[in-house]
Parts: sequence; C-alpha cells; structure tokens
Amino acid sequence: MLEPSDIRIQESPEATAREAAREWIARANRAIEERGRFYVLLSGGSTPKLLYRYLSGDSVRAQISPDCWARSYFFWGDERPVPPDHPESNYRMARETLLDYLPVPSSHIFRIPGERADPAEAAAAYEQDLRHVFHLLPGEWPRFDLALLGMGLDGHTASLFPHSDALGETSRLVVAPWVEALRSRRITLTYPVFNNARCVLLLVTGAEKAETLRHVLRGKRQPETYPVQLIRPTAGELLWFIDRPAAEQAGLV
Ligand code: 6PG
Repeated sequence: MLEPSDIRIQESPEATAREAAREWIARANRAIEERGRFYVLLSGGSTPKLLYRYLSGDSVRAQISPDCWARSYFFWGDERPVPPDHPESNYRMARETLLDYLPVPSSHIFRIPGERADPAEAAAAYEQDLRHVFHLLPGEWPRFDLALLGMGLDGHTASLFPHSDALGETSRLVVAPWVEALRSRRITLTYPVFNNARCVLLLVTGAEKAETLRHVLRGKRQPETYPVQLIRPTAGELLWFIDRPAAEQAGLV
C-alpha cells in the first residue's frame, strides 16, 4: 500500500488539474534551474485535457515565463495507430489543448509516428528518437523530469493493458502490443521508462474509476491484472492526484 503522502486529493477535477499544473510548473522551473531543460512525457485519454487547458489558459500562461516553455521538451507515453490529425491521436489532443498556445520550439516536440503502416516500426522509430535525444548507450534509460500518466477503468496505464506481453518488456523502450480489448495495436513506452522518471504524476478523476483505484491502491499486488501497479519509480517520486469522487468511493478519505 502507498504512503498517504503520495496521494493528493482535491475537491473536483478542476481543482485536481490546477494542483497538477502547479506541480508541473514547480518541477519545470527546478529542472531548468538545475539542468537547463525540462523533459516531460504527456499522457493521452480525456483526463489530462483539463490540465492542458489550464496550463495554456490566459491566466496561467501570464504567470509562466516564456523561457520555461522554450526550455521544455515534450514526448508522449503512448499513441494510437493513427495519423497526427486523427480525432483519436494523443498528439492532436495535446496540440489542440496545450501546445498550440505555448511558445515551444517545434524542434522540442517529439510525437510518436502513429501514422506508420506498421506500429512496430513506429515503436522502433520512437525508440531511436529517445536514444538520440537522451544520448543513450545500450542498456541506458531516458530520465524524464515528469511523466504524466492516467489510469483506465481496467487498470491500464499508457498502453500497458492487463495481461499484455508488453508488461514483461525489460529491454526495449517502446513497443507496439496488440490490445485484444480494443481489437487494435497501440504504441507505448515500457514500464522501465516510466520508472526511471524523476517524478511520475498519475492523474485520476471521476467516481467511475473508484473501484479500480481501490484495488490498485488498497488491494494486493496484481500487476498482470492492474498494470498501473507496475509504476514504481526506482529513483524518483510517484504522486497520485485524485479528485474526491474517485478517492471517497475508493475508501481513500
Ligand atoms: C490513452 C492513454 C491511457 C489513458 C487512460 C485513461 O492513450 O488512452 O494514455 O492510458 O491515460 O486510458 O483515459 P481517460 O483519461 O480517458 O479515462
């Protein structure tokens, strides 16, 4: 079971997004001060839209130095096998809610090429991008300053789905598993990448996630059934940002 201090509960999805934004900005400023750059991994799905919109909204944008965005580098934790302008594209969602409004150099945006005919090729290409940007030697892992993740109703995170072969991957950075529940392939970073981040922020809102959350946080360890339980940064922090409807019904408050 997690330490209570790792779990931050807010009243509403909006308040959760606001607190997550504060955490993001604090970590970005610290990373830039200490290392000159901020490497962030974005999550897809619908939950982070509020966070992205909040970060790119007029009131918050005015409080963030343009230098913060100019020194930020954006990556994705997973992608659907679709072109970048497709309604299901995680890249498109982040672009339309966040990136289009910020002074981020286009050379700092590293999307997963979901449009490739073979998702395995897309995974291999993205792995090469990561190796190149982070100057990785064989056996090394990228070190993200912040990895945002969500949790699906079935306990998946990124595109690490229950009982997937991808859960056993310990050498590749990116894979393209078949997801039977979706009858589709997905392209996803592997759990050692997330676990090498300085901070993983798991954003979960809504009462419908409560039951899964209860199993994940209060139940026994069953990562094949609840892959999000594999997320345990080895030299970093794991923060859960949860809203009250999810937390209350999960028995966390
Ligand atoms: C995706 C994701 C995925 C998501 C969860 C939660 O591409 O769908 O990155 O892991 O975070 O499925 O999705 P919701 O926020 O839509 O509930």
